Amino acid sequence: MIETKNLTKNFGKVLAVNNLNIRVNSGEIYGFLGPNGAGKTTTIRMLTGLLKPTKGTALIDGIDILKDPIEAKSHIGLIPDTPNIYKKLTGREFLYFIADLYDVKRDIAKNKMEELFEMFSLQDKADELIESYSHGMKQKIVIAAALLHNPSVMILDEPTVGLDPKSAKLVKDLLRALADRGKTIFMSTHILEIAERMCDRVGIIDNGILIAEGTIQELREKAKDKTANLEELFLELTGGEDTKDLIKFLGD
Ligand SMILES: Nc1ncnc2c1ncn2[C@@H]1O[C@H](COP(=O)(O)OP(=O)(O)O)[C@@H](O)[C@H]1O
Ligand SMILES: [Mg+2]
Repeated sequence: MIETKNLTKNFGKVLAVNNLNIRVNSGEIYGFLGPNGAGKTTTIRMLTGLLKPTKGTALIDGIDILKDPIEAKSHIGLIPDTPNIYKKLTGREFLYFIADLYDVKRDIAKNKMEELFEMFSLQDKADELIESYSHGMKQKIVIAAALLHNPSVMILDEPTVGLDPKSAKLVKDLLRALADRGKTIFMSTHILEIAERMCDRVGIIDNGILIAEGTIQELREKAKDKTANLEELFLELTGGEDTKDLIKFLGD
């Protein structure tokens, strides 16, 4: 479970995240949708204890990330937007390194790793240097690393960017399987179609403010134009009136 309480971050005059209050339940895939610069990565950095909020806090499985960061972080599997992977390690070495960081015992890590290599079809690449991996394989090893310590909360920052359709489908199916096993999934995206395809519930953030929240169905019903697609809805909610008119005009 994830809960934010008046989560706020200023960078000088820029109010990157403004009094954010959201709750994501176990078993749920929550899409945090917004254009570039909306405040998604800043929110994720605060949720995961990488950035101190100006105000407010976040609870991970009820544990306050500011008061008990080590315990809270042990519940989180994070897939950042630009993951730090060590290209001069093999996939297996990298996973052992991460397992040590999270205090996963060697024999448990070894079994879990074999399971993950198989799941991601990386068995043949496990003992090759990560620098030889394709973008999709790198993304897969990063996801595998985030799953090693069996976290109950998965937080992903734009996880499907740059993935080929097959890897993107794999990520989608994997997140669904994890949610079905009771994990809490929070993912950011700026792509409406991805939110629509992958998420049970969506929060739309613009200029640091949560401007709408609900299932895609509920958000559609909120739109004045009941036939609005998600893109038109988004533009309506984010005040992109000019663009909306243009889309309408092109559609007529
Ligand atoms: N470290 C930082 N210092 C100053 N401004 C920042 C910093 N990180 C993000 N910002 C600003 O905060 C806003 C939100 O950024 P970000 O959270 O990265 O958005 P998103 O991930 O939704 O694209 C933007 O205006 C960005 O320029
Ligand atoms: Mg971002």
